[in-house]
Amino acid sequence: MVIRLQEDCEGVDWERVAEVLLAAGLGTGGAEVRQKAFENSDTVVFVHVDELLVGVGRALSDDVLQAAIYDVAVHPDHQGNGLGRLIVENLAGRLPECNLILFASVGKEGFYRKLGFRRLLTGMGLFRKAEAMRERGFTD
Ligand SMILES: CC(C)(COP(=O)(O)OP(=O)(O)OC[C@H]1O[C@@H](n2cnc3c(N)ncnc32)[C@H](O)[C@@H]1OP(=O)(O)O)[C@@H](O)C(=O)NCCC(=O)NCCS
Repeated sequence: MVIRLQEDCEGVDWERVAEVLLAAGLGTGGAEVRQKAFENSDTVVFVHVDELLVGVGRALSDDVLQAAIYDVAVHPDHQGNGLGRLIVENLAGRLPECNLILFASVGKEGFYRKLGFRRLLTGMGLFRKAEAMRERGFTD
């Protein structure tokens, strides 16, 4: 099994990115939306196993103080093999001066805790689909 990390958007198969995110349960955005989101992010990572794209992650940062991580996902067929850790550590390692924030999917808090993240006690979010986010357990 050969693992390859890609740190730019060159030649990325956006249909596959959308497929991985959907399979991992992270929303239903199509290939075009995903492409825009990743291309507009300053720090991206794509994980290939034997040249198949199976994991993704991205961050928005000012590169010196603050960064936010989004869309960390590993295809269910490849979860539990350390690839999620690889994605988050890759993004964090490339933003060494930044504080990192994110909102974990419900039930994934323990994954981030293992990687050194701590629960935000004053985190606030203004979501465009506020009711859906409340129903999914992200907000009060
Ligand atoms: C969350 C996710 C990225 C983790 O990826 P993964 O490749 O399965 O995780 P890893 O194998 O790298 O796990 C790293 C460590 O976290 C632990 N871990 C993984 N998921 C966990 C969970 N839900 N709760 C607690 N610990 C967890 C693993 O046991 C492992 O521990 P170890 O290093 O002591 O062996 C993956 O499950 C996923 O894509 N989930 C769906 C999408 C999602 O919820 N993404 C996060 C949204 S921000």
